[in-house]
Amino acid sequence: MINRRNLIKSTTITAAALFSGCRRFTNQQRALSGLSAAFEGQFRFGTSIKNNTLQGNDTNLLTLIAKEFNAITANNAMKWEGLQPKLNEFNWQIADKFVDFGQQNNMQITGHVLVWHKQIPNYVFIKDDKIISKKLLLQRMEQHISNVMERYKKVTEWDVVNEAIVGGKWLESKWYKIIGPDYVKRAFQFARNANPSATLIYNDYGITNPKKQQAILGLLSKLNNSGVRVDGVGMQSHFSLEKNFPSTDMIEQTIETFARQGYQVFITELDVDVLPRAWKYVRQPPLQQLHINEISIREAKYLDPYPNGLPEKVSKELADRYASIFNVFSRQSDNISRVTVWGTLDTESWKHDWPILGRTNYPLLFDNKGNPKQAYFSVLGEGNN
Ligand code: GLA
Repeated sequence: MINRRNLIKSTTITAAALFSGCRRFTNQQRALSGLSAAFEGQFRFGTSIKNNTLQGNDTNLLTLIAKEFNAITANNAMKWEGLQPKLNEFNWQIADKFVDFGQQNNMQITGHVLVWHKQIPNYVFIKDDKIISKKLLLQRMEQHISNVMERYKKVTEWDVVNEAIVGGKWLESKWYKIIGPDYVKRAFQFARNANPSATLIYNDYGITNPKKQQAILGLLSKLNNSGVRVDGVGMQSHFSLEKNFPSTDMIEQTIETFARQGYQVFITELDVDVLPRAWKYVRQPPLQQLHINEISIREAKYLDPYPNGLPEKVSKELADRYASIFNVFSRQSDNISRVTVWGTLDTESWKHDWPILGRTNYPLLFDNKGNPKQAYFSVLGEGNN
């Protein structure tokens, strides 16, 4: 991997300018800053932004984001529950801030996500205490998509559908149960009508799994054959350090497979979990509250081994894992449009609470204070920092 540090120049930004818009990045400043500069010409480098960062105007974090990244996704602000918490009552406040921030800093803005089975209020599927008809649900879907995409015309890249497939089969979500498998096609049709020139993406996790990959390819080619174009595939990319799963071969093979079929590949939610797998405790009380009989102290220590900091050895392993992942991305850069990490600071990560609540994780490129970690430098091709 090439050493990219010489490409990095620091940029002075006044934090106040981030929202006021009075001092914006010029294209050239943007192009010479942080991770996005290091991968200029390969792919855009993005991060996700949380609601409290936007609401609290966390200027330190926003300054760091503006310096390092040239693409942004909202963690939650553009999900259905955020934008339309009640039927026909839209709440644009936080999403507006998110989009303003992206525009002021000349970033690519991703709309995430129009149709998903999570973070969506129950009212969507119900009228007069009964499950609604397919016709009414399609109307509600269309209204939501057109309202949102109409308001954010300048957002030209959308995750239209998230997580429709589980294993090799349809996930039996309410969308699927009420509308049937056509719901994905209809969502893409509505999105295409709302903004014909937007880049429309199907997004999912675990796509390196061959069964899931085949099922998604099948779904997308059916859509394309019926004249409904899907431009890209979003690989969420929630990866692990444990057993280096998925392997870099699997990651590369997946990117190549989708690219060969003509899809742009987007790495949409990258992070690397450093903790042991804990699926058997999924959706149970936080680790600290699990009854002593259910989980021994030894097991608790095993599951949450680094509450006070990441040991040097593991930090190095994480850096190496990131380096090998980015080697693949660099090799595949012709096929990849964007790489987005799911959060900037470790402290922001959802991985402290998934699949078990209340652990301490270190999956991202900056520590809790905003300092670049070893992993950051290894992404830049400087493995020994
Ligand atoms: C999925 C979603 C994201 C986010 C993560 C968990 O990957 O696509 O928006 O909710 O789960 O944080």
